Amino acid sequence: MHFPHRHLLGIEHLPPASITTLLDLADQYVALNRREVKHSDALAGLTQINMFFEASTRTQASFELAGKRLGADVMNMAVAQSSVKKGETLIDTALTLNAMHPDLLVVRHPASGAVALLAAKVNCAVLNAGDGRHEHPTQALLDALTIRRAKGRLHRLTVAICGDIAHSRVARSNILLLNRMESRIRLIGPPTLMPAGIADFGCEVFDDMRAGLKGADVVMMLRLQKERMDGGFIPSEREYYHRYGLDAEKLAHAAPDAIVMHPGPMNRGVEIDGEIADDINRSVIQEQVEMGVAVRMAAMDLLARNLRAARGAKVTEVMA
Ligand code: NCD
Repeated sequence: MHFPHRHLLGIEHLPPASITTLLDLADQYVALNRREVKHSDALAGLTQINMFFEASTRTQASFELAGKRLGADVMNMAVAQSSVKKGETLIDTALTLNAMHPDLLVVRHPASGAVALLAAKVNCAVLNAGDGRHEHPTQALLDALTIRRAKGRLHRLTVAICGDIAHSRVARSNILLLNRMESRIRLIGPPTLMPAGIADFGCEVFDDMRAGLKGADVVMMLRLQKERMDGGFIPSEREYYHRYGLDAEKLAHAAPDAIVMHPGPMNRGVEIDGEIADDINRSVIQEQVEMGVAVRMAAMDLLARNLRAARGAKVTEVMA
């Protein structure tokens, strides 16, 4: 299996072949996860530390479960109660953890670029679980696996990504991935929620939702990232729902077999109507959660193989 990477910091660093390798392995883990006994020993003997400097429910749970199913020793650092609160820098925390010899470090941080900074200081494999508005690679990969399983392919699909594009690391990673896999991307949202330099993203941009959804195969909704907004980006949630909230009437403009996605957590009645979110004929939101565990297992498995190979090479060198 060819996956020549030491860390998983972003989709930016992954060529299409690496994406396909990872998704193919994740498909195998989906099958394992549906069995009664879900254990493998791919990470046996290895230590995984999860460091979440920002709130997370599903991503942290998903990484924890993924590590445990693969036999790793998994530790969750309670960052809120740690020395970080006492003023320790990110790098000091990283060096302290590094001294405990982890093999896999899963990091979420509110600052864009913080995870890459940390990766440069430690000896283990680092997985980015979301850094600011920059990247969230495992989310884009689980979205890709969900789409590939529902549509049978990733190329030549029309994917509409709707809502708060400007503050969304999910959107950024998905745009990079889907562009790389040759899908057509439409970004839909109010101009205030479009990032600067949007023209360079290679996507079509719409501020009218119905026009943007026309014929789309995949409709990906995003949460309004209020924690990353420092002013009035939208007139009101009510007005936002009226123009950009996904309801049955707007969804009718997409392809008849379009799937509806959302990374969670959802704000029902703000970006999506609750009934659409729960409609098992359209919504694949629960599948996304299922694929999340499998994708994280695949990512950690591939990085651990490289880690072991690199260490093996070193031991041989020392012994020679
Ligand atoms: C996303 C995130 O944290 O970026 N959630 C997730 O990982 N499931 C999206 C969001 O918070 O809106």
